[in-house]
Amino acid sequence: MNPKKRQTLLAGSAGLTCLAVPPLGAATYQPPKADKPAFEFCAALARGINLGNFFEAPIENYWGMSYDESLLDLIVQAGFKTLRLPVRWSTRALATAPFTIDPDFFNRIEGVVQAALKRNLHVVMNMHHYRQINDEPLDEAEAAVATKDVDERFFAMWQQIASRFSGYPAQLAFELLNEPHKRLNETKWNQVFERCRQTVRVTNPNRWIVVGPAQWNNAQALKDLVLEKTDRRLIVTIHHYNPFEFTHQGASWTKLKDQSANSVDCCDASQLNNMFQPLDLAVAWSQQQHRPIWVGEFGAYQKAAMPARVRYTRLARKAFEERGFTWAYWELASGFGIWDPKTKRWREDLKQALLGNS
Ligand code: GLC
Repeated sequence: MNPKKRQTLLAGSAGLTCLAVPPLGAATYQPPKADKPAFEFCAALARGINLGNFFEAPIENYWGMSYDESLLDLIVQAGFKTLRLPVRWSTRALATAPFTIDPDFFNRIEGVVQAALKRNLHVVMNMHHYRQINDEPLDEAEAAVATKDVDERFFAMWQQIASRFSGYPAQLAFELLNEPHKRLNETKWNQVFERCRQTVRVTNPNRWIVVGPAQWNNAQALKDLVLEKTDRRLIVTIHHYNPFEFTHQGASWTKLKDQSANSVDCCDASQLNNMFQPLDLAVAWSQQQHRPIWVGEFGAYQKAAMPARVRYTRLARKAFEERGFTWAYWELASGFGIWDPKTKRWREDLKQALLGNS
């Protein structure tokens, strides 16, 4: 579309976005008045990044990533507005009631949140890899929890987290669970999320809560996500790794682990269709339900060729922004990383694909 026409279409959506390039989706859709704050908050998340493989490893440093505050300076200087902070609480909490979270770990995470907020970043802090709630095998450092306690422990951990952060500014959002799947099918997830939401609301009546659909936050499962209608302080997240055969080629934790590096290119017409189709479902759902969409994860793993990763990243980022979605890239400095911790340099082409205006 020619830029002038696009600008005209966008008139009227002012204030709903702080992206450098205003999103097309926001131009044609105006949320009801009661939902404007949610769309504004989601717009303010703008362009973000995941601090992946740091605090959601079973034990800190276990996956080779060691945190220090200067990483946050890099993130800010690059131009990101939001830090998604994946956290594995489940290896740092008692396996039996009252499921107390380790005080040192609590302090550690609170320090990261404070350092990010001090730098004016929005922070979306989550619970990542609580393996037993999805009925997945245990990881290292994870104590077995009695079946009857698995959900209770989830609520109890959130009760502690919510109460600890209740006085924090609105720039801190809670994402109650990363990628519910398997045991947490659509029905079960709706129930578990709703109880957890109620637990959090006791101490955080106004906190922005991020929630995604079952099936690993796949947009296809949005149609089955049932949210409490009266709670208008919910931001809906999807994860988007299509075309998966490209983004996850050779990734050891997937069924594509035996694929050799650089065996799938990107992005031909059918791959683009595969990329756009769930996004268009999400647009329709969002406008019908009046809930804003934040793409909390997307990215291509390092086994794909760099020029193809750059192409994919630019196409995906533009596809989100054209639909009015904000996003956080997966992730800063590990297997999908846009920053190389060895050379301490940005992978400039990838960074530009994310943060450029075209
Ligand atoms: C999910 C997983 C994370 C993985 C990423 C990309 O967030 O929890 O471990 O690295 O997706 O596959």
